[in-house]
Amino acid sequence: MSTVISLNGIVKRFYIGQPNELEILHGMTFDVEAGTFVSIVGQSGSGKSTLMNIIGALDRPTEGKYLLDGLDISTANDATLSAIRNKKIGFVFQTFNLISRTSALKNVELPMLYGGIGPKERHDRAMELLRIVDMEERALHQPSELSGGQKQRVAIARAMANNPSIILADEPTGALDSRTGRLVMDLFHKLHEEQGKTIVFITHNNELAAETDRIITIADGNVINDTGLRNKPTAARKLSQSDLPEGAAESGVAAVAGKEGK
Ligand SMILES: Nc1ncnc2c1ncn2[C@@H]1O[C@H](COP(=O)(O)OP(=O)(O)O)[C@@H](O)[C@H]1O
Ligand SMILES: [Mg+2]
Repeated sequence: MSTVISLNGIVKRFYIGQPNELEILHGMTFDVEAGTFVSIVGQSGSGKSTLMNIIGALDRPTEGKYLLDGLDISTANDATLSAIRNKKIGFVFQTFNLISRTSALKNVELPMLYGGIGPKERHDRAMELLRIVDMEERALHQPSELSGGQKQRVAIARAMANNPSIILADEPTGALDSRTGRLVMDLFHKLHEEQGKTIVFITHNNELAAETDRIITIADGNVINDTGLRNKPTAARKLSQSDLPEGAAESGVAAVAGKEGK
């Protein structure tokens, strides 16, 4: 299994050198294996979004080292960070962040436009993604004409536009009623199981977190609990069923069992 996210001693401070200097993350260390559906839970103000901004290469840590797919993000320049964001990461936010007065289709096409993909391919892929999230029929609707759950489905299609290896979702069900939140959660399960995406799911809904492979709990800028992998990540599960010789699959199980014990 390969590590996609590797955080080592991540510290984040704001207002550095000023009288009101604030340390929000106090040294977080954990790795996430490819194909894991991991939840990050914690109360409001615990530092979840600050951590997400770092994992998503939207911001750099003040101290510590962050490797994303082996690439050092802590020291990368702005141009590198934005290229990485565009290619490797799909973002989903609580408040959807769709572009208003712009169709669902164009919203989904936008990251591909930035990624330099031509009009025909952009259009076809955006329609395919809207089909996956069951929003094909609303392709030409603007965000103001969609319900919260529909907007979030479009936002998830947009997050998938450049076929990122990681989906980072910051309280994606937080603004939805529980039934709609359920549909959005099902969609994440589908992307995880069918496409082997690594999903980092930030939430304060413990019931939804309980459905994922691993739960990392943070409080006041520290990791206070980490279940480790409770299931094998889907990608590995698929491999062990088909491609791997028996021995290899077993050693994978052993590695997971070892993690569980800690
Ligand atoms: N850019 C910033 N400048 C100053 N303080 C910030 C900034 N971003 C977040 N914070 C502070 O960091 C703390 C954690 O915020 P946040 O990461 O948004 O928590 P959560 O997402 O868990 O609710 C809060 O006290 C917040 O006010
Ligand atoms: Mg937040």
